[in-house]
Amino acid sequence: MSSEEETSQTSSSSMSPPPPSSSTTTPTSHFIGKKEDIVKAGRVTKLVNGCRDVLVLHHQGQLHAMDVRCYHAGGALQHGDIEEFNGRLCIVCPWHKYKITLEEGEGLYQAVDDPTVRPLRTYWRSKGVKQRIHKVTEVNGGVYVTLNDSSEVIESDTYQTERYRTGLKAQPKPKPRK
Ligand code: FES
Repeated sequence: MSSEEETSQTSSSSMSPPPPSSSTTTPTSHFIGKKEDIVKAGRVTKLVNGCRDVLVLHHQGQLHAMDVRCYHAGGALQHGDIEEFNGRLCIVCPWHKYKITLEEGEGLYQAVDDPTVRPLRTYWRSKGVKQRIHKVTEVNGGVYVTLNDSSEVIESDTYQTERYRTGLKAQPKPKPRK
């Protein structure tokens, strides 16, 4: 398979936030780049299958792939730091610091037992899956992404429409919340 080849091609474009593909055919893997280049860069973004902007990152020897725009308001996750919260690796959105697990795409937040009790006792909780995570594979030094075509709507789907693809590039970034 050459660099831009794919094992099959499906088309997907609509105005509503879609899953990447609703086909029932064998999932397609899409070439992202050579592993050595991705390891060197740490992270790359790519429009996959003409319909999905995906972030592929390499961290602690593992490859991960997810929708590149944050489920909250479309923040550019490729600029996010990676940190561990409650034993789970997360990407921290640079816009408002939401935490998204690399493995599952869950949004994590810190809850408090009782806000009237001091000192506050906090613990980490999950909001559930918010960011669409894609499957990454490595074959002969090449890195491939298979889009997660689950028909379940995931919040990050909102930012995969053409409107956001073109509109967000032109908008200034909001200031991070303090
Ligand atoms: S856009 Fe990502 S936290 Fe707000």
